[in-house]
Amino acid sequence: MTSRPQSQLLTHPAGLIGAAAAGFIVGLAANFGRKAIVQGVSAAQGEWDAGLKAEHRMALGIFDLIEKTGARDVKKRKILLVQLKHALSKHAFEEENVIYPAMRDHGQVEEADKLVHDHGYVKQYLFDLSELDPADPTWIAKLREFRSELEAHIREEEEELFPALRDALGEEGNAHVTSVVNKAGFAAA
Ligand SMILES: [Fe+2]
Ligand SMILES: [Fe+2]
Repeated sequence: MTSRPQSQLLTHPAGLIGAAAAGFIVGLAANFGRKAIVQGVSAAQGEWDAGLKAEHRMALGIFDLIEKTGARDVKKRKILLVQLKHALSKHAFEEENVIYPAMRDHGQVEEADKLVHDHGYVKQYLFDLSELDPADPTWIAKLREFRSELEAHIREEEEELFPALRDALGEEGNAHVTSVVNKAGFAAA
C-alpha cells in the first residue's frame, strides 16, 4: 500500500481490517503474556503437587480477603467472588483434565470420582453466592460453609490422595504429569 495518511488508512475498508488484525495480534500477545504470568506462579513451584498446593493457598487467600469485608462492601465482595471463581475454575480444569484421570489410571477410581463430585458442589456454591445479595447475612454464612467444605476437599487431596498418586507415578511419571498439568493450566489461565 502506498503512503496514505493514517486517518485515510483507518477509514478505508482495507485499513480498517489491517487495524483490526493488528489489534487482534496485539491482543493475542497480551493474552499470551497474561497466561504465562498466571501459570508461571504455579509452574514456579516445581512439581505438579506443589503447584496445585500453591493454588489451594491462593484460593484460601481470596477467602481471607472476603472474610475481612463487611456487609456494606458489596462491590468488593462481588469482585473478590469473580476472582475466586477464576482461580477455582483454572484449578478444577487442571485437576479434572490431568490429575483425576491419572489417579483413575493408577487405581484411585472411586477417589477421583468423589473429588469430581466435590467440584460440582464448588460450582454450586459459586452459583448460589452470585445469585444472593452480598449485603444479606446469608451471603457470608454461605461463604463460610463453602470454605469449610473446600478445606476438607483440599486436606483430602494434599494429605492423602496426591501423595498416593505421587508414589504410584514414579520419577518419570511425576515429571510427565507436571508438564501436562502446566499445559492445562496455561490453556485455562
Ligand atoms: Fe480438587
Ligand atoms: Fe485441588
